[in-house]
Amino acid sequence: MAKFERHIFICGNRRPEGHPRGCCDPTGEARLQKLFKEKLLQRGLKGKVRANQSGCLDQCEHGPNLVIYPDAIWYCGVTLADVDEIIDSHIVEGVPVKRLLMPDACINTATCEHKPRRTVRKPGSTEE
Ligand code: FES
Ligand SMILES: [Zn+2]
Repeated sequence: MAKFERHIFICGNRRPEGHPRGCCDPTGEARLQKLFKEKLLQRGLKGKVRANQSGCLDQCEHGPNLVIYPDAIWYCGVTLADVDEIIDSHIVEGVPVKRLLMPDACINTATCEHKPRRTVRKPGSTEE
C-alpha cells in the first residue's frame, strides 16, 4: 500500500465549560474530524490523506486547531464551513488557506495576544 501523502491532525480535546484555556471540541463529538474524513472519502483521497483526531495540540486559545503534515502548516479557528476550502485549496492544489493560518507569533509561544497573561513571580516576591 502506498504511503500517506499527508496527515491532518485535528484537535479533539474537550475541556469543561469555562476553562480558561478553552478547548477545540466543546461538545466532544469530533464533528470537524468526521467531516474531513467524509469529504476526503468523497474526493477519492482515502488512503492518500488521513484525517486523525488528535489530543490537545497546546494551542488551545486559538481553536479549533489542526495541523497538516508533512507541510507543518497550522490552522486556527477552523469551522465546519472551512473544510471544503482546506481540502480543495491546500490538499488538492497545494495552496494553504491564508485567512485561516495560525500566525507565527502564536504558534508554540508562551504568550501571545490571545493567551491570558501569565504572571511570572520572582522568587521571594510578595507582589500578586
Ligand atoms: S484543546 Fe485543542 S489545542 Fe488544546
Ligand atoms: Zn495567539
